[in-house]
Amino acid sequence: MTDLPTPKPGILDIAPYVGGKSAIAGVAEPMKLSSNENALGAGEKARAAYEAALKNIHIYPDGRASKLRDAVAETHGLEPERLIFGNGSDEVFALLNQTYLRAGDNIVTGQYGFLAYRISAKACEAEVRLADEPEFKATPEALLSLVDERTRIVYVSSPSNPTGSYNTPDEIRRLHEGLRPDILLVVDEAYAEFVTEADWETSLPMARDAANIVVTRTFSKIHGLGGLRIGFGYAPLAVAEAVDRIRLPFNVSVPGLEAATAALADEAHQQASRELVQTWRPRLTQALRGFGFEVLPSAGNFVMVRFGTPERASAANDYLNAKGIIVRPVGGYGLPESLRITIGTEDQNRAVIDALSEFAAT
Ligand SMILES: Cc1ncc(COP(=O)(O)O)c(C=O)c1O
Repeated sequence: MTDLPTPKPGILDIAPYVGGKSAIAGVAEPMKLSSNENALGAGEKARAAYEAALKNIHIYPDGRASKLRDAVAETHGLEPERLIFGNGSDEVFALLNQTYLRAGDNIVTGQYGFLAYRISAKACEAEVRLADEPEFKATPEALLSLVDERTRIVYVSSPSNPTGSYNTPDEIRRLHEGLRPDILLVVDEAYAEFVTEADWETSLPMARDAANIVVTRTFSKIHGLGGLRIGFGYAPLAVAEAVDRIRLPFNVSVPGLEAATAALADEAHQQASRELVQTWRPRLTQALRGFGFEVLPSAGNFVMVRFGTPERASAANDYLNAKGIIVRPVGGYGLPESLRITIGTEDQNRAVIDALSEFAAT
């Protein structure tokens, strides 16, 4: 026992989240392909709305996010009162964890599942159970095999980061059907807009008719607003109302609300963002495979490249850095032999291809 302030059990066991690196010493403008951001940036409409919001930044935001709520509800055909807005979808996961997890409860997610689910679960003194992903994909069977009487939430991301795999509607349905009704199923669709696979579908309609499914989306990817931190969840009304009781009253900022509302109406920017990824994801994949690297099929705005050994991945990372390119080592996900590369602009993608072509010959 100490007489100093002592964090709750488990807090100091949490490895701090390390975001994508954004600087290389000596390189004025590195190519940042480490955080799955939108290579085109934010759209013009969102930027104009952000600037226009400057005159109101002394005013507290609308805590209900009413304008954005109505716009999201209208765009996706959802009931506005069932939406939860957060400071990024990260905050929506944290709020769900805080609302539903007691000490000793657990969450279940895939072995390579997004780290944000785990961090806030541990902060609730909950256990994190990781289902094996031998094929780099969380299957309903593997997830269900870990569910026990203390399981409160099961998280899947579809598409998943960093592997790029996804779940079909049939898999999501099987998973949902295998869960007790008191367990929440959270389907994280942060990369939904980039998917081209015919057997992927949004789980929003499934969530509409279920009392225990939450689907999350973000403005950080297709809309290019990662820096503003806005995401949302579509939840059963009882869940949305419970979460609302613990949410910080003004968790999304005035410029964030305005920019996100404008971004939703900017179809040209969404289209351009989608096309960039859908054009370059296969080209990058094919080129890197041509150099002998294993590139996992990806449904997101990134690809994961496997280099065989951690040493080789680390050498590739250094090589890319030396060319002014920052990608994401994913050792924190238990994938030290891999690097995750965000799809960039044409010039950036060509630079990656050139650099890895040279590296392959080393
Ligand atoms: C799978 C997944 N979910 C959610 C997010 C977080 O999104 P947000 O910026 O809305 O917190 C990310 C961000 O990289 C992600 O990869």
